[in-house]
Amino acid sequence: MPAAAAEPCPVPATGEPEARLAALVEWIGDCRRCTLAPTRTKIVYGQGNLRAEIMFVGEAPGADEDEQGLAFVGRAGQLLTDIIEKGLKVPRPEVFIANVIKCRPPGNRNPETAEILACQPFLEQQIEIVKPKVLIGLGKFAGQWLLKTAEPISRIRGRFGDYRGIPVMPTFHPAYLLRNPSAKKDVWEDLKLVLRHLGR
Ligand code: URA
Repeated sequence: MPAAAAEPCPVPATGEPEARLAALVEWIGDCRRCTLAPTRTKIVYGQGNLRAEIMFVGEAPGADEDEQGLAFVGRAGQLLTDIIEKGLKVPRPEVFIANVIKCRPPGNRNPETAEILACQPFLEQQIEIVKPKVLIGLGKFAGQWLLKTAEPISRIRGRFGDYRGIPVMPTFHPAYLLRNPSAKKDVWEDLKLVLRHLGR
């Protein structure tokens, strides 16, 4: 995927994560950088612990997220909560959760390349701010964005890759698990690798 169009980044490279996140939110502003702006209700920045060891990256907000301005609060979000709390055995507020794109694509269609590129600096900065010990990419768009690959999720899941020195575990998206519950066992295998990596 080509690099995003250069726009000077006003987020300080050091300092408290709360102040850096505030600068990021200010930079995003009332974003009009891509064609999703006119149809979105709220920008979904992502939320959680700014000092998290584990950071999840999803695809894009759905209808519930768009309405509430929070990531993963719909049905897929409930399953993600189970993955975090029952699988990883940590309270959900301890992790950080963001998406590749921050605005809902109409009708929940797939994100387009131009949208991903327009939003790219924001996820890059969120990862810089949180500096997690491990990134978990949920589904094709997050896995491919993190690993800069076009390989299908079924090929990249289940083994660690690298995002700027941070180990990345791609796994299936919770929405896919809602449609294919038999794949939950694969996600559990992926989580076990994450837990082992963290020494838990
Ligand atoms: N699916 C995602 O990828 N992200 C959300 O925030 C909700 C559903």
